[in-house]
Amino acid sequence: MSNKKFYITTPIYYPSDKLHIGHSYTTVAADTISRYKRLRGYDVMFLTGTDEHGQKIQRKAEEKGVTPKQYVDEIVSGIKELWKAMKITNDKFIRTTDKYHEEVVQKIFKKLYDQGDIYKSEYEGLYCTPCESFWTKTQLVDGKCPDCGREVELTKEESYFFKLSKYQDRLIKHIEENPDFIQPVSRQNEMLNNFLRPGLEDLAVSRTTFKWGVPVSFDDKHVVYVWIDALSNYITALGYMTENDADYKNYWPADVHLVGKEIVRFHTIIWPAMLMALGEPLPKQIFGHGWLLLEGGKMSKSKGNVVDPMVLIEKYGLDAIRYFLLREVPFGSDGVFSNEALINRINSDLANDLGNLVSRTVAMIDKYFGGVMPSELKEGDFDADLKSVVMDTPQKVEDLLDKLQYSTALTEIWKAVSRVNKYIDETMPWVLAKDEANSQRLAAVMYNLAESIRIISVLIQPFMPETPHKIWAQLGIIDNKDTLTWDSSKSWGKYPSGAKVNKGDVIFPRIDLKKELEELEQIAVAKSGAKSESSEAENKANASNTITNTKNAETKKSSSAQNKADVAVDDGLITIDDFAKIDLRVAKVLQAEKVEGADKLLKLKLELGDEVRQVVSGIAKHYAPEEMVGKYVVLVANLKPVKLRGIESQGMILAASDDKELVLATIDKNIGSGARVR
Ligand code: MSP
Repeated sequence: MSNKKFYITTPIYYPSDKLHIGHSYTTVAADTISRYKRLRGYDVMFLTGTDEHGQKIQRKAEEKGVTPKQYVDEIVSGIKELWKAMKITNDKFIRTTDKYHEEVVQKIFKKLYDQGDIYKSEYEGLYCTPCESFWTKTQLVDGKCPDCGREVELTKEESYFFKLSKYQDRLIKHIEENPDFIQPVSRQNEMLNNFLRPGLEDLAVSRTTFKWGVPVSFDDKHVVYVWIDALSNYITALGYMTENDADYKNYWPADVHLVGKEIVRFHTIIWPAMLMALGEPLPKQIFGHGWLLLEGGKMSKSKGNVVDPMVLIEKYGLDAIRYFLLREVPFGSDGVFSNEALINRINSDLANDLGNLVSRTVAMIDKYFGGVMPSELKEGDFDADLKSVVMDTPQKVEDLLDKLQYSTALTEIWKAVSRVNKYIDETMPWVLAKDEANSQRLAAVMYNLAESIRIISVLIQPFMPETPHKIWAQLGIIDNKDTLTWDSSKSWGKYPSGAKVNKGDVIFPRIDLKKELEELEQIAVAKSGAKSESSEAENKANASNTITNTKNAETKKSSSAQNKADVAVDDGLITIDDFAKIDLRVAKVLQAEKVEGADKLLKLKLELGDEVRQVVSGIAKHYAPEEMVGKYVVLVANLKPVKLRGIESQGMILAASDDKELVLATIDKNIGSGARVR
């Protein structure tokens, strides 16, 4: 076994029967690094799994009239199916309902209690009994529960607390001394400035209002708070605190926890504090990637696009989907998913650039040399440059993948693909083929093409599990130690002379964009007929509440509270609370265009932090579309959407006007889009 170890995890997923393509983002990224590390000779442990406890699950199961366990079992098997279809090579799959996990969570809780890091106290808040939910004052609608509209009462609930505050200084020091601990750096600053430096409060780590969780072993009225339960998975999966802890000894600390940006704070504050309390080493890195969003909102609310990963895989093949996920958006940033962007990528990068290169090369070797690569070669112009570009690529890919820069790594590989395509234009094999005297030169051109493709095919292996095999079959490369290992990409000349190529199916067929989008639209419409599950975003908001607000009520974000908000006017004056109901945000203009047939209107695409919004604004007489792009404007973000000339407008941008002039309200200095204006 290799002594180079690598332990990588994804978050464990909430059981959802509506998994969309965004969900597979973290897992595909983790799988790619795992494959890459294995190719580089590492002994890899890749863990994923499911996060199955909590009140929401209990409720859903009740609604369906099944036990929570029955409910999650079915969904989890669907999740496993999806990972299988995506060729995810996880070494372990943990479920928080696994007995071994539950037992160790109890041991962890008990140990922290025995040593005084967990203590019993009271959790205070406004409680809605029928809904079993705590609310903060601002979340109430007309002083009532925002979910059911009934009275709430000030209630105290007994709870255990974890002494998170005790670890604040050590956490700050650790983050400051280990710049790689939280990546990308922007997230590190966010954690330090928004959470750690302002101060941590102790964290409520048990609940008594529902049962579906790990019982506190010494007080079974309480169940362990889901995040304590969930975060522990990274070590319980390795046998921590059991007799069978060889994996723990071998792999911990993790090299990287890959997580979406919204759960970075759980992983960089609660989790390390828990580990400090347990006296265990901290993971080496937490990488918070961005989100794939749909234009106009969250993926779970998809309307016009097909986002079901199974459908997409079936239509375009697994590798096209994996390629898109990793290529389209720099890892760490947010990006927009659309079926159109996916098809464009497939057509340009995969069908045109790579697929075509392989087909042309195979067809030429077939035509000019009866399919067998000759051994007498004559070097010539352009060869040196081709080789140098191709041979520089593996090192660049390694450097980038070591930093989880998938998109740039793929860009480097595709630069090589372009260079090879250009080599065909430069050497013009069809001209060489006209004269027998050029035969050796033509052979060398064919060899250089085949060898470049071999190297490229080795480098795409971590990203695309299927395509390399198809390429090897067509180029007649037999999988042996010399030709297809990662290291073989660093030596030129491994493609065997005498290899026999085999013309095969086109690897990435071109897609007719217009026809395809029409077909997808029909699928999307058919699917949106099914009831949509909107709980996911809420789940998260619900779960994300606890770092700063622990002793108070749960700060569950309620979209219904926001929707129902209206400003009470009294003698023309409004209170500060009324004003606070208006969600003003800084937004960046991404695109602007005229609305046909409406000379006053511009249709704008606005970036609003994580979201992209479409707003129709009556400013066309004062601002040209080109002028708008790149501007930072102020948006009323919680305005009910309306249709203007049949186009949905999701908010309103602010402008000052008199009889003649209209000028946009902007902000004094640059601040990121999404920032609140108040
Ligand atoms: N159960 C918690 C994690 C506990 S870890 C101890 C959870 N689960 S989740 O199912 O909501 O999310 C799992 C992963 O999917 C997260 O990394 C999340 O960021 C990712 N994604 C879900 N939707 C996404 C997009 N639309 N885009 C990119 N990734 C997103 O959080």
